[in-house]
This record gives sequence, structure tokens and C-alpha cells, in this order.
Amino acid sequence: MTDFETSCTIVVMPDDATIDSRAAIREQYKTPVNFNARVRLHGRFSTNKVSGGMFSWIFDQIQAPPNARVLELGSGTALFWRANQNRIPPGWRITLSDFSAGMLADVRANVAAIPHAFSFMQIDAQALPFDDHSFDAVVANHMLYHVPDKPRALREIRRVLVPGARCYAATMGRSNMREFTAMTQRFIGISMGRAAEQFGLETGFDYIRPVFSKVEVRRFDDALEVTEAQPLIDYIESTRIGRNATADQKAALKEYAEAEIRARGSLHFTKDTGILIATA
Ligand SMILES: C[S@@+](CC[C@H](N)C(=O)[O-])C[C@H]1O[C@@H](n2cnc3c(N)ncnc32)[C@H](O)[C@@H]1O
Repeated sequence: MTDFETSCTIVVMPDDATIDSRAAIREQYKTPVNFNARVRLHGRFSTNKVSGGMFSWIFDQIQAPPNARVLELGSGTALFWRANQNRIPPGWRITLSDFSAGMLADVRANVAAIPHAFSFMQIDAQALPFDDHSFDAVVANHMLYHVPDKPRALREIRRVLVPGARCYAATMGRSNMREFTAMTQRFIGISMGRAAEQFGLETGFDYIRPVFSKVEVRRFDDALEVTEAQPLIDYIESTRIGRNATADQKAALKEYAEAEIRARGSLHFTKDTGILIATA
């Protein structure tokens, strides 16, 4: 299996740059290296093996006309389009965007083999360089928790959508990876994974409600059963907090993970993920 095939079922926890400065977020996403380490853990150990994974499920939720103009914000490494490459309606005019030049370069390379024409733009979700009512759908997966001024980004998204069109924003709920949060708290002294407080299924709902005419939450049933300790350590080290943890802290965490896996066969992590669908 390629990295991509194993990564189709992801819902990746963001780096805790989520709660850091804009500079830290830019640093985290300067290139896809850190993001890919987190994708790998979810790709390998997610229990929901539905074909195409969560990105295929999100695609199923999209309602847009055959000739839709579609904008994706924070495209990352284009996982969404690679997971759905065989069913993109030929009439869709798709703009892929990210505020990171490094991620956008990866996006271009990753969609090159998909038989569909895409446009690319380096843009910040808080200031969309488009006229009002320019799009029939906006996709903003796993990225709004990074945006400093969320109401502004949401107002921008609503402005560029035609009335009645939808924004699809995948994110996680408060109980997502709660065992992981407890584990990092115990061994590193800091609880990683607080994105749900920034823009999660619960908090995001509250941000969207005043801006859009309707908002709906749909959840995707999944969990992680991790059977190897090292990918967990790689995941932790892909984050700023993890890199700052001491070697002793990481060794203790790894030892704990290995003992649990020996005793129980796997380490279980709850996943609480889904999408917010906002109607303009
Ligand atoms: C966790 S990744 C998600 C990537 C992709 N949407 C996915 O689901 O696989 C977050 C992405 O959002 C981008 N991003 C963060 N803040 C942004 C902003 N204010 N405007 C546009 N993109 C942003 C990052 O560069 C990164 O590529």
C-alpha cells in the first residue's frame, strides 16, 4: 500500500500550533512533513475501513450542481481530492487554496495525476479575493481551528457562496482522542489536542450559527486501535509540543504504550469526528 492509500481514513489532529501564534501555525505548515506524520498514524490504525475513508464520506455529503464552482480552503496535501479522484463531476471548476506556499506546492504535485483541471491560489481564509456569490460549494476541512479570526473567515465564506449553497467543514468533537490527551498530559505534562475548543463540532456550530442561515452536524463513526508504539511517538514528535518534550518523557510514554499493547493487543483512542454543514 502507498502512503496515500493508507491515509484515506484520516482525521488528523492538528498540531497544537492551533492554540499558538500565527507564526507557529505558519512554521508548522511550511512543508507537509509534520502533517504527513500525523496522517500516517490515522491511515494505519483507523478502525473504519470504509472505502475512501472519511474523505469519501464527506464527498457523499456534498450537494452541488454538475457545473459547480467549488473552492477548497486549506487544501493541505489534497487528500480530499485524491480520495475522490474517480468521481469528481467533470463539470466542476475547482479552486484549491492554502495560505502556505509549501503546502500548495504539494497540492499541485499531488493532483497532477488526477484527470481533472484544478486552479490553485495561495490565500488566507480570512480575506478571500473573490466577488460575492462566486462559488456553489466551499470545502474547509480540518483548518478553521487554525484561523485566528474565525467569524471573519466565516463571513468571507458566506459572502463568496451563492445564497442557499453550502460550506463543508470537517473537524473533531470534544471527546476526540481523549485517551491521547490524557496520555500526553500524564507523560509530557501538557494535554495536546485542544482544537475542538478552537473550532470543533460543538464550538464550530456556535461560530457558524450567527453567520449562516442553517448549520448541521454529521458525525463519522471511527476509532484508532494502535498496535505499534513508534508511530505514536512519530505523531507526537510532529508537533511543536512533542518536539519540546524531553527524551525521558518520550521514553516513558513509549514504554507505557508498548506495555499496554503487549497486555491488550492495542491502544484504543476514541475518535469523535464529522462535518459541519453551513448553508448560506
Ligand atoms: C490540518 S491541515 C488540513 C489539510 C486538509 N484540508 C485535510 O483535511 O487534509 C490544515 C491546513 O490549513 C492551512 N491553513 C491554516 N491556516 C490557514 C488560513 N488562515 N488560511 C488558509 N489556509 C490555512 C495549513 O497550511 C494546512 O495546509
